Amino acid sequence: MSCGRPSRRARCVGPHFKFEECYLYPSLERFLGEGYVKKLLNEHDGIFRSVWKLAKLAEKETWSDADVKSAEANLDLIYEHPIGCDGLSLWMERLGAEERDELWKQMHATRRKGTGLFDYYYERQNA
Ligand SMILES: [Fe+2]
Repeated sequence: MSCGRPSRRARCVGPHFKFEECYLYPSLERFLGEGYVKKLLNEHDGIFRSVWKLAKLAEKETWSDADVKSAEANLDLIYEHPIGCDGLSLWMERLGAEERDELWKQMHATRRKGTGLFDYYYERQNA
């Protein structure tokens, strides 16, 4: 799936966050521990904030030097998470085949639903 335009990107990233928080993180918590799962959720919170700030910056016609620094800082915050999050695939190997299959199904179902990033943000705030 290509995620070129902003609205399409939000529909790609939203399901990623939703799948991880609703299915992946809970299934790996027994390996990672509650504290590490909270750390991952806090990183997602930071990404929601950073994406929101970047979206607001994108609405501006011109950027000041402070805007450029803000954009760079927010992008750095976003880039940190995929490094740790990608490593979770190693823990997934410890799951049984049935559990991995179930996660696979949930991932595809979540992608098909296509909840946008900020729609998911509001959904999780009201949960
Ligand atoms: Fe993640």
